[in-house]
Amino acid sequence: MTKTNSTNEINLKTEEGNKIIVAIDGPSGTGKSTTARILAEKLGFLYIDSGAMYRAITYELISKNVKPNDIKKIIELTQNAKMSFEGEDFFLNGKNVTKEIRSLDVTNKVSNVSAIKELRKILVNKQREFAKKNDIVMDGRDIGTVVFPNADFKFYMICDLKTRAARRRQDFMEHGMKIAVEKIQMELSKRDKIDSTRKESPLKKAKDAIEVDTTNMIIEEQVNLLYRKIKGLD
Ligand code: DC
Repeated sequence: MTKTNSTNEINLKTEEGNKIIVAIDGPSGTGKSTTARILAEKLGFLYIDSGAMYRAITYELISKNVKPNDIKKIIELTQNAKMSFEGEDFFLNGKNVTKEIRSLDVTNKVSNVSAIKELRKILVNKQREFAKKNDIVMDGRDIGTVVFPNADFKFYMICDLKTRAARRRQDFMEHGMKIAVEKIQMELSKRDKIDSTRKESPLKKAKDAIEVDTTNMIIEEQVNLLYRKIKGLD
């Protein structure tokens, strides 16, 4: 239950066992992850990057040379995958793979891997587990529609393609990779198409999600907008 204090700011703390879930969905490059991470910190919630989980399995399949049609092996690997988030780092089976899961190879293959129904089912269960013990902010493609249809707060971020490509290019540069913006734009469009037209849990805005267009916003504005909505200040 949410309570309002004298300044009208909603006190989010609920009775024990009743965890608060903030779901943030939208296409790649809209600033979801950065916004979600800072927002979680501000709220004192755990941040779960569900995309990292799909990326980790993609990385594992590439490393172990598993064929995309070897569903049995994919299920086994996904079921056995131990995933944890520690600060800004992501661990898969005890190994810090934060950098590896952002490689171009993983990025280009992850949309096809994440379209596999059996794999999604396992990862959705793992995502729900995180919310049993913690108040969370989780970002992804299907968080407000499939993973947590009853989330307390739902946001759907959008942004024009050119701006998204420019932001991604900057991200890559910061990771020491120089990639032409046109190439990034093409890859983003391709991923958008796969993510939003796939049969299983396609990317789409939940009916009750608040749409946030980040084209002309800086991260701080995005974070504040969400924070104020959650705290009942707007
Ligand atoms: O957010 P990201 O770019 O790191 O996500 C990588 C891919 O994972 C994305 O192309 C689609 C997939 N994904 C998904 O299908 N469902 C989620 N909840 C999160 C990510």
